[in-house]
Amino acid sequence: MSMGLDDLIDAARAAAEGSYSPYSNFRVGAVVVGADGEVFTGANVENAAYPAGSCAEATAVNAAVSHGVRRIDTVAVACVDAKGVEDAYPCGRCRQIMSEFGVRRVVVTAGHGSQVREHTLDELLPHRFGL
Ligand code: THU
Repeated sequence: MSMGLDDLIDAARAAAEGSYSPYSNFRVGAVVVGADGEVFTGANVENAAYPAGSCAEATAVNAAVSHGVRRIDTVAVACVDAKGVEDAYPCGRCRQIMSEFGVRRVVVTAGHGSQVREHTLDELLPHRFGL
């Protein structure tokens, strides 16, 4: 399945509908496109014990990997409750999680009508750790 930028953003926004975020009320959705075009989505899933929660990117990457994906082309993230794209960037932990699977491109956007930005992981996580 081949997805253009608009499709990726639409799918990330749709994935945010699955968010369980009663503590932050900050709904996030993510789409992972594997190197062979496989598509997986995820949302942030919070927990009363806050650190036990999962970001949308982690949910989506872990779904893809647990279905056999080992190399990821694109991760698109939509923080639908963010005011602007500057509030919508993946956290440091998720950048490291994406790094493990060679993500080529990260697409970031916030609420409807907001800007869309594309980045490489080298831009988001330079000098990253890997074995
Ligand atoms: N969150 C994500 O899911 N992805 C991001 O890129 C940034 C933050 C989630 C974690 C938590 O559920 C909520 O947004 C507020 O931090």
